[in-house]
Amino acid sequence: MQNEKFILVTGGAGYIGSHTVVELYSNGYTPIILDDFRNSSKLVIEGIEKIIGEKIQFHEIDICDYVQLEQIFRNYKINGVIHFAAYKAVGESVLDPLKYYKNNIIGLLNVLELSAKYDVRPFVFSSSCTVYGEPKGIKEVKESTPLSKPSSPYGNTKLIGEQILNDFFVSQPTAKILNLRYFNPIGAHPSSLIGELPNGKPNNLLPYITQTAIGKLKELVVHGNDYPTKDGSCVRDYIHVCDLAKAHVKALNYLENETQGLIDAVNVGTGQGKTVLEVIKTFESITGEKINWRFGPRRAGDVDEIYANSAKSKELLNWEAVHSFEDAILHAWLWENKLRKNDE
Ligand code: UFG
Repeated sequence: MQNEKFILVTGGAGYIGSHTVVELYSNGYTPIILDDFRNSSKLVIEGIEKIIGEKIQFHEIDICDYVQLEQIFRNYKINGVIHFAAYKAVGESVLDPLKYYKNNIIGLLNVLELSAKYDVRPFVFSSSCTVYGEPKGIKEVKESTPLSKPSSPYGNTKLIGEQILNDFFVSQPTAKILNLRYFNPIGAHPSSLIGELPNGKPNNLLPYITQTAIGKLKELVVHGNDYPTKDGSCVRDYIHVCDLAKAHVKALNYLENETQGLIDAVNVGTGQGKTVLEVIKTFESITGEKINWRFGPRRAGDVDEIYANSAKSKELLNWEAVHSFEDAILHAWLWENKLRKNDE
């Protein structure tokens, strides 16, 4: 029996959003998905419903439409907001920055303004480790590591988003806001009923690997072999999307239990860095598939090495990643196979 604690999940049909909806549900919340499906699919809703065994509430709206969005705040007694809805392709943001600033900033402003108007407190913002920019000489970043210029307009929208929330909090000190700075989410739900649905050619490493292995793409180009890392390829902190989803529930619990207003930022990563070559090797050894890959030049804007210091998430949220890196890779592969079956 659900206790009708309504949590608004903007972008709830997206990759991280859909996994978070499942976690919310299994922790007794009633998630309300807002999504206009421009970058996802209604099949995601079916997948979520199969996992939880119930119908889910969703509204097909664009959060940049203030009037439509306000209708949702009027119709439900919302207890908290998790704001995912945003564009996220780094490369596209360089080519079309205004699209990114317009959508990501207006979306945030609308959701924030209405949360304040309807007195909705817990507010979890989908931020990114991109807000650390290129931290000089630091590989393991803490939340106290100074923020610096992100390498893309997409990244700027996350940094500006955090700044907007900070300024808002000064004016509304009873607000309860947590910025979750994600590292690199990978994998899919172990049921293979939901997962990542890249639009066109993927930008991120894992879907690129799985699509190459399954034959959708010809080859994988590893961007750069001369970084100052153990094998010359870049190091990232890859986190299972289900662990990342659980961090949102913990964040919500934390904000609900705080009696005072607050704003804070928390890294959501495993604390472990892996090189691109390690990702490829692990994929090959787990799946038995060979990846057709070669080295190419460095990709503009890539940071050499970055991974999370995850002490704060443990201390504040009582959260840490539990899925292994191998599990995450296996689940990404099972999901890719499921997509192929759906295409047949
Ligand atoms: N990579 C390749 N070949 C590819 C794709 C990626 O070698 O075809 C490499 C990249 O150069 C990088 C690593 O794999 O070294 C990971 O790349 P991703 O694109 O998967 O992830 P990023 O770390 O670049 O980007 C992620 C998020 C962004 C966020 C950024 C912040 O996807 O949303 O981290 O650092 F802005």
